[in-house]
Amino acid sequence: MSYPGGATTSWAGRRRIELDSCASTNDAAAGLARDGAEHGTVVVAREQTAGRGRLGRTWHSPAGENLYLSLVVRPEVPAHAVPSITLAAGLAVIDAVNSAGVAASLKWPNDVLARGRKLAGILTEMSSRATSSAPPPLAGGGLGGGRSHRVEHVIVGIGVNLDTQVFPDELDRLATSLAIETGGPVDRAAFEAALLAGLSAWIDRWAAGGVAAIAEAWMDRARLGPVKVVDDGQVVEGEAVGLDGDGALIVIGEDGARRRVTAGDVVLAGEGR
Ligand code: BTN
Repeated sequence: MSYPGGATTSWAGRRRIELDSCASTNDAAAGLARDGAEHGTVVVAREQTAGRGRLGRTWHSPAGENLYLSLVVRPEVPAHAVPSITLAAGLAVIDAVNSAGVAASLKWPNDVLARGRKLAGILTEMSSRATSSAPPPLAGGGLGGGRSHRVEHVIVGIGVNLDTQVFPDELDRLATSLAIETGGPVDRAAFEAALLAGLSAWIDRWAAGGVAAIAEAWMDRARLGPVKVVDDGQVVEGEAVGLDGDGALIVIGEDGARRRVTAGDVVLAGEGR
């Protein structure tokens, strides 16, 4: 994945499968991966009929408007390290968004926001095989757990709102698109090419050096500061200050206690909700 002298080849998208319609590109890519699809295979669909997001949410996936893309990755890392690949993918998305002329920021763990509204999201799913009698990785891909599992494949699913001009009522104040942000047409091919190049580079960097290798870049592009974390009905308010070595979000609670956030929903002050 990386080469002497630090040069990186663009491997993401070396095989590209384009579908007119599918339930979810993550499911299509996982099926291909189970059948042996190589590292770097990408599935892109014009429409998803059951696009999904984190925490069991639906991902708005109308035909022909946006980018729905899933990448097969076969990283040589232990299973417990996989969830933080989402942070590397976020860096690739935000770089592509910036190169399209839109200022945006990252929200832990998987959101890209412009003017406090959601522009893109990432859903990472892993298939692993137990190599001992340890319990399986946490359901839902929380950070941590699964220390005795071998990674078979990881699917990095990315949804970017490119061309949607009018969102359904329930998303109206929460979501935005590149077309809304730029007020002009979006060059879909250029955007996808920038994204795939960024995924190749950032995922290589993460695979070689872990969270430590990408943490500074991630924090530079992230919205930290006042947050409310909602996890399993529990609400913690505090100040997000950065990432730890596993990619967990560090939040200093109002009581002064330092907490590691590994799951749940993070709401930023001023976020469109
Ligand atoms: C989130 O923000 O909760 C994650 C959204 C991820 C959406 C993408 S679209 C392509 C891929 N296929 C899916 O069903 N989901 C991801």
